[in-house]
Amino acid sequence: MKKAIITGITGQDGAYLAQLLLEKGYIVYGTYRRTSSVNFWRIQELGIDQNPHLHLIEYDLTDLSASIRLLQNSKATEVYNLAAQSFVAVSFDQPVTTAEITGLGPVNLLEAIRIVNPKIRYYQASTSEMFGKVQAIPQIEDTPFYPRSPYGVAKLYAHWMTINYRESYGIFASSGILFNHESPLRGLEFVTRKITDGVAKIKLGKLETLELGNLDAKRDWGFAKDYVEGMWRMLQANEPDTFVLATNRTETVRDFVLMAFKGAGIEVEFRGAGVNETAVVASVTQDLAFTQDPALTQNSALTPALSRGERELRMEERGHKMGERELKVGQVVMRVNPKFYRPAEVELLIGNPAKAKAKLGWEPKTTLEQLCQMMVEADMKYNQKGISF
Ligand code: NAP
Ligand code: GDD
Repeated sequence: MKKAIITGITGQDGAYLAQLLLEKGYIVYGTYRRTSSVNFWRIQELGIDQNPHLHLIEYDLTDLSASIRLLQNSKATEVYNLAAQSFVAVSFDQPVTTAEITGLGPVNLLEAIRIVNPKIRYYQASTSEMFGKVQAIPQIEDTPFYPRSPYGVAKLYAHWMTINYRESYGIFASSGILFNHESPLRGLEFVTRKITDGVAKIKLGKLETLELGNLDAKRDWGFAKDYVEGMWRMLQANEPDTFVLATNRTETVRDFVLMAFKGAGIEVEFRGAGVNETAVVASVTQDLAFTQDPALTQNSALTPALSRGERELRMEERGHKMGERELKVGQVVMRVNPKFYRPAEVELLIGNPAKAKAKLGWEPKTTLEQLCQMMVEADMKYNQKGISF
């Protein structure tokens, strides 16, 4: 059986990649950090936490000796380095920690490979943040880099070290320049999940207004589960290389807000500009597509329309009580709060994954609309159960 190490198993990509490799028959060594309260909710959500082929190992990327022991003890032949301080906003407040983990950390693993077994294949989780103030549209593997955050700078260092170890020591070290990828397992601090969680809370009457920063930022958003497949393909290729994984479509944060509210049956209109911009409710359809209960769908062709009282009763039975604050047309459900602005912003990302398609046969399978709907539905379920990860 093939053995692989995934650093950062508690993160979004770590969980999906572990699921994929287990399905492919691997023995997986997933690393997590010692913290006062370790949280394995993602691998629990995917139902793989008890898999006998998944071994959870305490490990910190900033420790060279731990990296050496990790490789020696596991005898893995593939290493997927997903561990990082990955939140761009925090990297402005913690630039040194970000450099140590996200920049230098990968060098510990590369050195460990060089020392323990140079035949081990290595995947580095590089990022479209490295393109920063973009020098070409769309971005491809050869587009010049111009990072705009301490996180982007740290990742760029690790990217070039990956290439350097490939060229200097012949190590099979591949770098995946991945554009933003999201899912119901995304951390709540990232904008898409913050929005879908906020929309679910607003729909359920648990939150009045969602506060966001720069609504004009444009991102190329894909589905994380599609992207981990690309990581695996990179390490199965004949040669190590650098690949962009992206969808070649870009939308603004504002577009995603609109889409997420729509997914919850709420039409919003944007008013004002800059820090004064808001989104207000234009109309509410009680059409909860995500409940998968046709009786709750007002225009269902299969069931007679329910009266409002009957519908509310049915929703309460299903735990969908609308909450104390019922949504009203004209209610402000989103406003801008400048505290979420960044000192320097990446305004536009859009990637062309043609090389990955040609050489790896990889392409994204999930549209942004499908992704957004999936996230809204998951957040409705989490919030109905009263859990918020
Ligand atoms: P994530 O959810 O933030 O997960 C990051 C993982 O790294 C967590 O398991 C975290 O552990 C772990 N970690 C942090 N510091 C560590 C340390 N010192 N030692 C060991 N582990 C440490 O990130 P993600 O979205 O899954 O992304 C995976 C990787 O791809 C990251 O490197 C990210 O920078 C990169 N990337 C992500 C995207 C994206 O859109 N998602 C795009 C391009 C690149 P804790 O749970 O203990 O914090
Ligand atoms: N997080 C957040 N919160 N972002 C906001 C908000 C808010 O309230 N309001 C607007 N934004 C804007 C940010 O300013 C940014 O332009 C955009 O939304 C996306 O922010 P994030 O979701 O935090 O992601 P990111 O693009 O900064 O970084 C993610 O993608 C990178 C790949 O390009 C992370 O996953 C990185 O680890 C990854 O490398």
